[in-house]
Amino acid sequence: GGPVKADISKVEPGQMLNVLWRGQPVFLVNRTEKQTAVLESLNDKLKDPNSESSVQPEYIDNIYRARKNNFLVVVGICTHLGCSPKYYPDLVPQQFDTEWKGGFFCPCHSSRFDISGRVFDGSPASRNLDVPPYTYLDENTIEIG
Ligand code: FES
Repeated sequence: GGPVKADISKVEPGQMLNVLWRGQPVFLVNRTEKQTAVLESLNDKLKDPNSESSVQPEYIDNIYRARKNNFLVVVGICTHLGCSPKYYPDLVPQQFDTEWKGGFFCPCHSSRFDISGRVFDGSPASRNLDVPPYTYLDENTIEIG
């Protein structure tokens, strides 16, 4: 398939929209300031904090990993063996280590990613979640692909 359009006008802060693109789930998350405020402090707990070995467009070049700081667009497929991670907006169940502040958790082998899709040390996945090419057609419409 070709590009896919997503209407994000109804995605409230903290919510995630799941869109299918080329048979893959793409996660679109309207991040709150509380969610993104922790990004910098996580850098030394991550395998690739600056996304140097990530699969992402060249215009994605900071810790937000997004065209707009608040709005994340990532491929929802674990870079370990391809399961689909679950979204945890902020509250982290107690069985997880306390360094993880929420984001995405892969139930297959417990890889943990932050709210920018960056993978934590100690996870079996070694690469951050991929960022697909995308553009804003207008304020509320994202075209993926
Ligand atoms: Fe996600 Fe293995 S497939 S941790």
